[in-house]
Amino acid sequence: MSKEINGFSKLSKQEKINWIADNFFTNSSTAKKILIQYWNEDEKLQKLHDEFSENTLSNFYLPFSIAPNFLINEKKYSIPMVIEESSVIAAAAKSAKLWSDIGGFKTKVISKIKTGQVHFIYTGNKETITSYFNYIKPILIKETEIITTNMKKRGGGIVDISLIDKTLDMKGYYQINVSFDTIDAMGANFINSCLEQISKSFKDKTNRYKDCIIKSNDIKIIMSILSNYVPDCLVKAEVSCKVDVLNAKEDFNGFCKKFVQAVQIAELDTYRAVTHNKGIMNGIDAVAIATGNDFRAIEAGIHAYASKDGKYKSLTHAKIEKGVFHFSIIIPLALGTVGGITNLHPLVKLALNMLGDPTAEELMEITAAVGLAQNYSAIRSLITSGIQKGHMKMHLINILNSLQATESEKKLALEYFKNKIVNNNNVQSFITKLRESNEI
Ligand code: MEV
Repeated sequence: MSKEINGFSKLSKQEKINWIADNFFTNSSTAKKILIQYWNEDEKLQKLHDEFSENTLSNFYLPFSIAPNFLINEKKYSIPMVIEESSVIAAAAKSAKLWSDIGGFKTKVISKIKTGQVHFIYTGNKETITSYFNYIKPILIKETEIITTNMKKRGGGIVDISLIDKTLDMKGYYQINVSFDTIDAMGANFINSCLEQISKSFKDKTNRYKDCIIKSNDIKIIMSILSNYVPDCLVKAEVSCKVDVLNAKEDFNGFCKKFVQAVQIAELDTYRAVTHNKGIMNGIDAVAIATGNDFRAIEAGIHAYASKDGKYKSLTHAKIEKGVFHFSIIIPLALGTVGGITNLHPLVKLALNMLGDPTAEELMEITAAVGLAQNYSAIRSLITSGIQKGHMKMHLINILNSLQATESEKKLALEYFKNKIVNNNNVQSFITKLRESNEI
C-alpha cells in the first residue's frame, strides 16, 4: 500500500478516513471507529466544525472549564477556559477567590495599536523614494477606503503610514509601516487586506509622480503582512494589599518577601523566566482558545515582548513598598471579540456571552487578570508546598484513567491519596494491591 496520495483534499470525509485508516493502521476498523466516535450527531453542527479547517476527519475535544470568582475592576466574572493540563483551572480559581476577598484585580488598557509592514527593496537614492512616499501617502490611504469604510464607521481604521529606512540592515530594504486601530476585531484579515492594497498602489502609481522618475519596476515588493509583535497594544493587571494581610491569608510570615524574591529570580534568570512565563500563558492561552482567539499570535507577541530589553525576562513584577505588596503584569494582547470564529463557534459565542459580551479592551483586561492569577498561584505553590503536591493531586485522575481504574477503584484511590504522595508508582501499586485483594 502507498502512503502517498495526490488529491487527498478532493476525497470525501469518509474516503479520507478510509485512506488514513487503511494505510496507517493494522487494525483499520478501530482507527475508523475512534475517528468517527467524535463526530457530532447534529450534522449541521458537525459540518460547521468540519469547515473551520481543511482535510477534517473528526473533532478533537479539550475540556471547556470555568474559573469562577474573579473580581476585576469591581465586577465579578466566571471565566471560561479551555485547557487540557490538570491543575491550571484549580490554580486560577484559587487565586481568584483569594484576591476577590482582598480587593480583586485592577486592570487597564494602556494602548491599542497594531501594525503591519510592506517590506520592499529599492536601490535608488533615498531622497527620491522618500519624496515619492510623501506624495503617494494620501493616495495609499484613499485606495484602501473600500476596505476601511466599515472599520472607520466603528471608529477605527488606518492610524498612520510611515516609510522606514532599513538600508543599514539590508541593501535597499525599506518598510512602509502602517498602524491600525481595529476596535473589537483582532483584525488580521483587515490589516493584511489593507497592506496588500497599499503595496499594490505603491508600486502601480509610480507613473503619476514627477515625470515618472521612479518606475514601477524599481520597487520590488517582498511581502505585505501584519506583525504579531504588538508592543503598542498593551494591557496592565495588578493586585495589591498590605503585607501583613497577605502573610496572614497565606499563613506564612515571610510569604510576601519570598514571593518578591521568586519574581526577581524570573527577572534575572532566563531559564526560570521561560517557565514562569509559561505558567502565565497557561491562563492566557486557555482564555484565548475559549473566546476564539489566535493563541499562536498571542504567544509569539508576548514572548517577543518578554525579550524587549534584549534579554528574556519575567512578564510579571512584584515589590513591597511602604508595607504594601504589589504584583502586576503588562503584556501585549491583540484580542478580538468580533470576526473570526467568534460569531460562528457555539461554545465561543457562549463563552463571550458569559463574560457579558465584552469589547476587545475588556477581554484584554480579563485575560491579563487571568495570566496574573495563574502566576500568583504557581509562585505561591512553588515557594510553599512545591508544585507537585497540587499538580499530582489533580493529575491523579489521569493516572487512574490510564490504569483503566473502575469508578469504585477511583473513589478508593481519591480517598487514599488525600494525604499521600501521588506519583505513577504509588498509584500503580495501590491499584495492583487493590485488585489483588479483590481477587482473594
Ligand atoms: C506548569 O504548567 C507551570 C509552572 O511550571 C509555572 C511556574 O513554574 O511558574 C508551574
